[in-house]
Amino acid sequence: MDFLSSSTHLHITAWAITLILFFVAALAGKKLTAVHMTLRVMYILVIITGLALFLEWRDKIAESGMNYDMKVLFGILVIAFMEMVLVRKNKGKSVNMFWVLFGIVLLITLYLGMSMGIGINF
Ligand code: HEM
Repeated sequence: MDFLSSSTHLHITAWAITLILFFVAALAGKKLTAVHMTLRVMYILVIITGLALFLEWRDKIAESGMNYDMKVLFGILVIAFMEMVLVRKNKGKSVNMFWVLFGIVLLITLYLGMSMGIGINF
């Protein structure tokens, strides 16, 4: 499974497409069922590529071990809040709170991802 974890490109591609689909579905005036379904498939790809990186690299970069666990947690929270925004929007419930939570956990996830050992490093 080297192709999954030897670089972060697949993971980046997966979450970039995920974010685009999320904004398309969330900002559209009506319910976009097909986009939402595709988005759910993308969630799975993000999780698979993220977990592959996690299993491959966690032990090799000991000093950022704890950050690796946090990265996984926040990555999953980003997905959870995207889903909350879309499901609540489709039901006509208020979504402001979940937009804020989504924004905060997304920033933390991007920071954690980029400040760790592999791939693009700041
Ligand atoms: C939409 C959600 C997510 C976003 C925006 C995101 C973003 C990122 C970013 C920016 C990086 C750094 C890439 C690089 O340095 O080249 C990264 C790496 C990583 N991500 Fe995610 N991610 C998300 C979801 C997940 C999930 C769900 C998991 C785990 C199941 C995960 C696990 C990882 C791991 C282990 C790395 C490697 C960290 C490193 O050493 O650079 N991510 N992610």
